[in-house]
Amino acid sequence: MKTIAIITGASSGLGKEFVKQIDLDNRLDEIWLCARRKERLEELANNLKHPTQIVEGDVTDPNWLKALAEKLASEQFQIHTLINSAGLGKSGAFSEIGLKENGYIVEVNVLALTQICSICLPYMMNQGRILNIASVAAFLPQANFAVYAASKAYVLSFSRALNQELMDEKITVTTVCPNPMETEFFLHSGQKNKAQSVKNMGLEDVEKVVRMALKKSEKHKDISLSSFISKAIRLVSRIFPHPFILKVEKLIGF
Ligand SMILES: NC(=O)c1ccc[n+]([C@@H]2O[C@H](COP(=O)([O-])OP(=O)(O)OC[C@H]3O[C@@H](n4cnc5c(N)ncnc54)[C@H](OP(=O)(O)O)[C@@H]3O)[C@@H](O)[C@H]2O)c1
Repeated sequence: MKTIAIITGASSGLGKEFVKQIDLDNRLDEIWLCARRKERLEELANNLKHPTQIVEGDVTDPNWLKALAEKLASEQFQIHTLINSAGLGKSGAFSEIGLKENGYIVEVNVLALTQICSICLPYMMNQGRILNIASVAAFLPQANFAVYAASKAYVLSFSRALNQELMDEKITVTTVCPNPMETEFFLHSGQKNKAQSVKNMGLEDVEKVVRMALKKSEKHKDISLSSFISKAIRLVSRIFPHPFILKVEKLIGF
């Protein structure tokens, strides 16, 4: 029986850093790297001490999901760590982003993450862990980032409920809620255009976000917040009515 970790979004940013830190974990026999850019995954695999399997493809593709399920069924595997880091966002008016892209954000951030959890769950070992990457955006609705923020609110709600459901099986589900980090996400999401207001909110360090998230999941925590600002945002979201916060976001140009 091989003990494995599966990490989506492993070709870049947070997912790649998770792979590097997970590589130090002696409880694992193998690490599975998932993303579309195969060459990036191969390059990463070459620098790891653990054996790897590359599960290349688009997480929204039913054939990719089927391949993942078949791979898991092909040998005796138990999943120690599942990390859902594949994700994307697009800032801008909902009407301008349009049908295709708005739908794709939900497909990747919500549907694929849910389906991957569903496929992997039967293979999760006792004392295993799932880390689902949300965002501070999960705490508040955000005009001009509406679908992304809503998708991350889903990740938070779903993951917390799943954590409760899996408690008796001693599987921990930790939702990771970072502030903006300077990864490729920043480029793809169009947030570069409002870089200053994002930076004013406080950029987080990728290495620290990952280190804290792994530590929190070891301690069976259901949420990981790794900065003062992210904790403050969560507090604000609990104190003030969301319509009021939306007005303040507009006033400060966020
Ligand atoms: N950076 C931030 O400011 C920030 C803040 C809070 C939360 N987050 C969240 O953190 C997570 C990781 O983001 P990041 O900052 O590391 O961004 P990133 O550097 O752009 O990485 C995104 C990863 O997701 C993968 N991915 C995207 N769409 C995919 C698809 N359809 N199928 C398979 N893989 C896909 C990408 O791989 P390929 O392109 O190779 O497929 C890449 O490895 C995301 O869930 C994001 O929402 C980011």
